[in-house]
Amino acid sequence: MHISTLHLAVFAAFVPGLCTAQTSTSCNPTENTTCSHDTALSTAIFGSIFTEGSSSNTSWKATAGSIVYGSNGAEFIINEKGDAPTIETDFYFFFGLVEVKMKAASGTGIVSSIVMESDDLDEIDWEILGGNDTSVETNYFGKGNTTSYDRAIYYPVTTPQSTAHTYSVNWTAASITWLIDGTAVRTLYYADALSGANYPQTPMRLKLGIWAGGDSDNSEGTISWAGGETDYSDAPFTMYVESVNITNYSPGTSYYYNGTTGAWTSIVVVGRSVGSKANSSTVGTTAAASGGVAGVSGTAAAAMAAESAVSGATGIMVRSGIGAAVAIMLVLQLVELALV
Ligand SMILES: *[C@@H]1O[C@H](CO)[C@@H](O)[C@H](O)[C@H]1NC(C)=O
Ligand SMILES: *[C@@H]1O[C@H](CO)[C@@H](O)[C@H](O)[C@H]1NC(C)=O
Ligand SMILES: *[C@@H]1O[C@H](CO)[C@@H](O)[C@H](O)[C@H]1NC(C)=O
Ligand SMILES: *[C@@H]1O[C@H](CO)[C@@H](O)[C@H](O)[C@H]1NC(C)=O
Ligand SMILES: *[C@@H]1O[C@H](CO)[C@@H](O)[C@H](O)[C@H]1NC(C)=O
Ligand SMILES: *[C@@H]1O[C@H](CO)[C@@H](O)[C@H](O)[C@H]1NC(C)=O
Ligand SMILES: *[C@@H]1O[C@H](CO)[C@@H](O)[C@H](O)[C@H]1NC(C)=O
Ligand SMILES: *[C@@H]1O[C@H](CO)[C@@H](O)[C@H](O)[C@H]1NC(C)=O
Repeated sequence: MHISTLHLAVFAAFVPGLCTAQTSTSCNPTENTTCSHDTALSTAIFGSIFTEGSSSNTSWKATAGSIVYGSNGAEFIINEKGDAPTIETDFYFFFGLVEVKMKAASGTGIVSSIVMESDDLDEIDWEILGGNDTSVETNYFGKGNTTSYDRAIYYPVTTPQSTAHTYSVNWTAASITWLIDGTAVRTLYYADALSGANYPQTPMRLKLGIWAGGDSDNSEGTISWAGGETDYSDAPFTMYVESVNITNYSPGTSYYYNGTTGAWTSIVVVGRSVGSKANSSTVGTTAAASGGVAGVSGTAAAAMAAESAVSGATGIMVRSGIGAAVAIMLVLQLVELALV
């Protein structure tokens, strides 16, 4: 979604839904300890086959405009200036695999977007520009940090406007991988996102929407990024989403931030339904570690969990000096704790 402080204000005028979500995350748990808990996706797997009609829209809510459900799936249509239909899940998930099969909208400056976003503004995105039928953009933000724009990377894809492709994100505590039709195109490791400070790591909702980045009222920077000014006489611009699948690596009844660090180790999974007998008393570190480890395997995950265990204990990030064997032992201990 490429929300930035630069264009947020202008954007707010035209995309009430997406923007309200941004600014009205009104309760940012890294700033306020009394935010209400996030409703969790209780099952490991959630799916919506939008080509089956509007009855498939269970667990989604529209935050702007309205969606048409037809044989091509959910239709997100911009007919005129100000339109920006957007839906989001009514639940959160905490590490997981998100898969969206869709066709992007055409139209200069039109942005078709798949956005995963948390209450403290961690964000993982796919953005497809209507003026470019040969590439798609991947992007991410940690804790709303928009100070730099070097995180976006574009990848080639065959006619995303006329061909339905599956855009996925495999999100764990150790890494984030973006995939197109099952082929990994980009992997971001925790340490590579400003030593974790900019790494998306808190419970997210999925948002799907379309907006006019090329609206003439937007900033020069936004219009230029979006590929130029939108000509509404070319409307309608339609994005079609055929289906969505979400695998939640930490199913439960709710999530909350234990403290204001926004670190994944501080997230408490209440009412875990998989891998643990514990529920509301589950310790954040163990819950998150085993949630993360469920979807992560190998040394990176081990090192990651070990680092968290160490930093959790000492309050200091200790990265070097942890051997893989020690790391794996620590992970096993964490998993054991989670299973007690
Ligand atoms: C913290 O969040 C609560 C609940 O949303 C709200 O009532 C309160 O005003 C917030 N406090 C601050 C300082 O933002
Ligand atoms: C889901 O479909 C119903 C019509 O069956 C509609 O009233 C509702 O607004 C739709 N919700 C979303 C999020 O599109
Ligand atoms: C989601 O899962 C269903 C059922 O397995 C499958 O038909 C559909 O293609 C999947 N969609 C995506 C985007 O992976
Ligand atoms: C589409 O985007 C790619 C990657 O940024 C760029 O190389 C290509 O020139 C763009 N094509 C058009 C038509 O803008
Ligand atoms: C935001 O990210 C930039 C680099 O992308 C970094 O220099 C800066 O320290 C970060 N700010 C915070 C508050 O983490
Ligand atoms: C905790 O587990 C017990 C036993 O399964 C169950 O009765 C209770 O409802 C659970 N509480 C929560 C908050 O999930
Ligand atoms: C919350 O964090 C505190 C301080 O780190 C810790 O002692 C406590 O066990 C945590 N609570 C839960 C439910 O994880
Ligand atoms: C997601 O990541 C986990 C951990 O690396 C891996 O086991 C799993 O196969 C990945 N799934 C996909 C679809 O890439």
